[in-house]
Amino acid sequence: MSILVTGGAGYIGSHTVVELQNAGYDVIVCDNLCNSSKKSLERVEQITGQPVKFYLADILDADALTKIFEENTIDSVIHFAGLKAVGESVAKPWEYYNNNITGTLVLVDVMKKFGCKNIIFSSSATVYGDPAFIPITEECPKGQCTNPYGWTKSMLEQILTDIQKADKEWNVVLLRYFNPIGAHKSGLIGENPNGTPNNLMPYVTQVAVGKRPHLSVFGDDYDTHDGTGVRDYIHGVDLAKGHVAAVKKLAEKAGLKLYNLGTGNGYSVLDIVKNFEAATGVKIPYVITERRPGDIATCYSNADLALAELGWKAENGIKEMCEDSWRWQKMNPNGFED
Ligand code: NAD
Ligand code: UD1
Repeated sequence: MSILVTGGAGYIGSHTVVELQNAGYDVIVCDNLCNSSKKSLERVEQITGQPVKFYLADILDADALTKIFEENTIDSVIHFAGLKAVGESVAKPWEYYNNNITGTLVLVDVMKKFGCKNIIFSSSATVYGDPAFIPITEECPKGQCTNPYGWTKSMLEQILTDIQKADKEWNVVLLRYFNPIGAHKSGLIGENPNGTPNNLMPYVTQVAVGKRPHLSVFGDDYDTHDGTGVRDYIHGVDLAKGHVAAVKKLAEKAGLKLYNLGTGNGYSVLDIVKNFEAATGVKIPYVITERRPGDIATCYSNADLALAELGWKAENGIKEMCEDSWRWQKMNPNGFED
């Protein structure tokens, strides 16, 4: 029995492949490499000492997916494949809806044809919009997303929920990630953004390595302890282990399940700067600029449900997250490029 990991060459996918192989699962990766490099999987092989079976395939391509299911006995799918750049999604909504939503519909259809009805889906805390309450439990109502990327997550949650409702043979686990940062301790795999990073930690590490002169802090007039935005940062390895726990839940034929994957702790932008400096000894110059449109003040989880039902909780603190992000950046200043 194998697990198909769509988008497995990407940041969270590659970390999850490591943890799945470490836990003894057979893993198959399908990725079109539109936002990743095959080198990440070579690094995974280096870490685990096991080969990774890889298909260069697009989830929009039903024939390519069919071939994967014909050649392997796939028990469950962990579905990471998707486009994720918030700003780009505003400029290219059709491309985001087509890739993320049509791609998932094609995938689910092929799964159904092969009797594989177990799926874990990468959702995001972005579906809470400006959250109705903090810390955010799974009971918190979904909110208004500020961009097409966010809507693809919100809509796909609904689509997978409706599919499970109509056919109880489906087991669907929706995982709402908070803010993934950090990298595998080996420094061999990590987040590898194209061009200018949109997210905070990759920007900080690029400042630290000398690629960018300073960090822009997007607003210091939010209603938070120091005026800068507060988020729930979670280590990529902890997130990956959350997927292994979710695979076990699928095996219990659990029906429809929804979990926050976060730490339950909120850190501001300036907290991150200070913790990064303390953990690495590298100074991060910054300037305060305007708020970024669409940003909210505070977003952090209550992750009790994942502990109660999956037996999972994040183990790495902010120090490890900063150290590991920095090790990856330092060892690979140009990501997976030579
Ligand atoms: P990533 O871009 O590193 O990984 C996504 C992978 O999917 C890439 O390797 C890309 O090449 C592949 N892909 C995209 N479209 C594809 C297609 N049509 N067919 C095949 N492969 C395709 O992103 P990530 O940070 O690892 O995120 C993984 C998933 O988690 C995404 O669905 C993302 O939206 C979601 N997520 C990420 C974050 C985050 O902050 N990183 C937060 C919440 C949710
Ligand atoms: C962003 C996305 C969200 C996505 C998530 C993970 C937006 C509006 N939201 O969330 O949909 O799921 O990434 O990919 O883009 N910051 C700076 N300077 C920077 C970068 C960020 O001050 O150069 C601040 C932000 O204002 C925010 C915090 O750092 O307060 C975290 O930002 P980021 O890493 O982009 O994550 P989110 O905004 O939470």
